[in-house]
Amino acid sequence: MEKNNLSRRQFIATTSVGAIGAVVTTGALSYGNLNDVSGKLALLGGDPVRKTGWLEWPMWDSDAEDPMLSVLRSGKWYREWGTKVTEFEKQYADLIGAKRALATASGTTALETALHVMGVDAGDEVIVSPYTFIATYNVVFNQKALPVFADTDQETFTINPKKIEEKITDRTTAILPVHILGLPADMNSINAIAKNHDLVVIEDACQAWLAEYDGKKCGTLGDLGCFSFQNSKHLPSGEGGAVVGNNDEIMDLCKSYHNCGRAFGKSKNEFTGYPYRGGNKRMMEMQAVILMSQMKRIKKDADKRLENALYLDSKLKDIPGIIPYRLTEGANRSAYHLYPFRYKKEYFDDLPREKFLKALTAEGILCSGGYRSQYNDGLMEEALNSKGYKRLFSKQRLDTYREELKNLPDNDQLTREAVWFFQNMLLGERKDMDDIIDAIQKVYDNRKQLL
Ligand SMILES: Cc1ncc(COP(=O)(O)O)c(C=O)c1O
Repeated sequence: MEKNNLSRRQFIATTSVGAIGAVVTTGALSYGNLNDVSGKLALLGGDPVRKTGWLEWPMWDSDAEDPMLSVLRSGKWYREWGTKVTEFEKQYADLIGAKRALATASGTTALETALHVMGVDAGDEVIVSPYTFIATYNVVFNQKALPVFADTDQETFTINPKKIEEKITDRTTAILPVHILGLPADMNSINAIAKNHDLVVIEDACQAWLAEYDGKKCGTLGDLGCFSFQNSKHLPSGEGGAVVGNNDEIMDLCKSYHNCGRAFGKSKNEFTGYPYRGGNKRMMEMQAVILMSQMKRIKKDADKRLENALYLDSKLKDIPGIIPYRLTEGANRSAYHLYPFRYKKEYFDDLPREKFLKALTAEGILCSGGYRSQYNDGLMEEALNSKGYKRLFSKQRLDTYREELKNLPDNDQLTREAVWFFQNMLLGERKDMDDIIDAIQKVYDNRKQLL
């Protein structure tokens, strides 16, 4: 971390207090409330705690304008004719601390490339966290493999390593941990399990730029790591993604696969034409120009989010029924793509979470209940009933798989209790964080108005 940031020791000390900080029953907060938290809730017509909006995202810098115009005028928009994507790949590898980076069209295509190159094939099983954006499920389905869910650790929001081993079968080829919301998964445990069972590890770091675990950046802890640069992300270019890795041979294969299977690197000397299967998953030159401009702010933004998140941790834990996330053992910092906590309605006289979210929103605080139990939405059955899956898996396996989907109690509970704040809110000032804290306190103090 840089000079003016919190030291790692300060960081760990603060977060571990916040983490255990479960539920205490005092209502009083130790900071001077700047807002009047008594009185009528905004949802019922009262004055909201916050009347102003939040920082807009993404923010663009004028230094991107000239290079963008020059790429436009050059007509070299395709990476093989220009230099920008290659330049970006070098800068991104340096930023993340990986030997190589391959830019892709999206996070989804980065994950597809990584899964294919690491040998995830039709009829395989991949162990994955159910608590993730739907793309993580989809990329496994796109390989005609089964996404096998290991239940979530509710405190850390990430895959529970204790639930992985029981899910391994003779079809399992990979573990796909997700550093969801920017929170690092327990990579030491995951890598140890993978080693014991001869599995590959592909990190879905699509929300975890600059998150750290064991002193290393997320995305560099498994065999390959994948990132997204979609519009909402901390490093945005509308669409875009990257695979990072340290093994040249594997990274050369990724490059080939993402470029229609054309030979690349060593294989270029051995083959002509198309020695591999592949697809077009390439990034455009314009995307790379935006990314190199956006990259100038990413460390400063990450430190600001961290500082504000630690402040929220230290205050929110004192409000009954509000349980901030816990960093998993070995994690140094989250990327805070989202700031999450669990809402325990029993401390709010059973006020449903949906009503809590509405009340908070009315006070001017953007928030979301996050991911639902998406495996009940229909896509699993659509896949399992398809011609291909019926061919690839026995009826018995598909039946037990269906039963396993009904047995994710920790994930189900988390989807009922989670509350998220958005990353752009964490780029605000201390006063903005106080608005968040005051609004939650106000809803807590006045909860009876909503019953
Ligand atoms: C956890 C996770 N995985 C994968 C993806 C897919 O990335 P993209 O939208 O760039 O394809 C995302 C994007 O939101 C994500 O959040």
